[in-house]
Amino acid sequence: MALKDVGNKVPIYKLKTTDEVMRYYDEWGEKDKYNRDMVEWNYTGPKETVEVIKKYLVNKETLFFDAGCGTGLVGLQLKKFGYKNFHGADLSQKLLDTVPKNLYQKLFKIDLNKRIEVSDNLYDSVMCVGTFTFGHVKSDALDEFVRITKPGGLICFTINEGIYKDYGFDKKISNLKANHKWIEMQFFKSDYIASKDVNAWLGLYKVK
Ligand SMILES: C[S@@+](CC[C@H](N)C(=O)[O-])C[C@H]1O[C@@H](n2cnc3c(N)ncnc32)[C@H](O)[C@@H]1O
Repeated sequence: MALKDVGNKVPIYKLKTTDEVMRYYDEWGEKDKYNRDMVEWNYTGPKETVEVIKKYLVNKETLFFDAGCGTGLVGLQLKKFGYKNFHGADLSQKLLDTVPKNLYQKLFKIDLNKRIEVSDNLYDSVMCVGTFTFGHVKSDALDEFVRITKPGGLICFTINEGIYKDYGFDKKISNLKANHKWIEMQFFKSDYIASKDVNAWLGLYKVK
């Protein structure tokens, strides 16, 4: 798969370490640049994932964990459809600082490549949009998402098409199915950042 991707000044696929990724987003968040770029590029990840998950979640009290919430674009989309209970987590404190006030009840600065310090079965739903991409969060985070989601809860995510096989997401998703950890509800190629010819797999899974 060609290294197609976008970014701020340098493409995301050039980032190697977690520290580099953190500094990159800290800078991208300045003067609202990240949000402005997403509008200019017609980034559809938050809209597409929320369109999918809302069909399965009638309860507007659903408690979401937004993994890699960035500036809160997923929370803003969820709010449009009447959901209101969100916790968000991200590596970049600068991006967390730009999340609209009172949109999320809790915001955590964390590294999603490590254990998530919340108890088992806490959330009704986990969203992870735009965060499975080059040099960012690895596929083992899906084990953590399953652990923190209630039985019967939903996990919805995008995976940049360029890392899906190379980073072992295909095997991780299959193993979770084979080990009866989750059931596939949807899995398809989404537009994501079609304006830049970058697409992503979009998955929705129900925890057993
Ligand atoms: C492309 S942005 C997506 C942000 C948001 N979900 C959206 O759709 O606009 C990727 C996000 O992943 C975060 N991120 C990257 N590596 C991370 C890590 N190891 N742990 C937590 N967050 C990480 C970045 O800080 C950034 O906010």
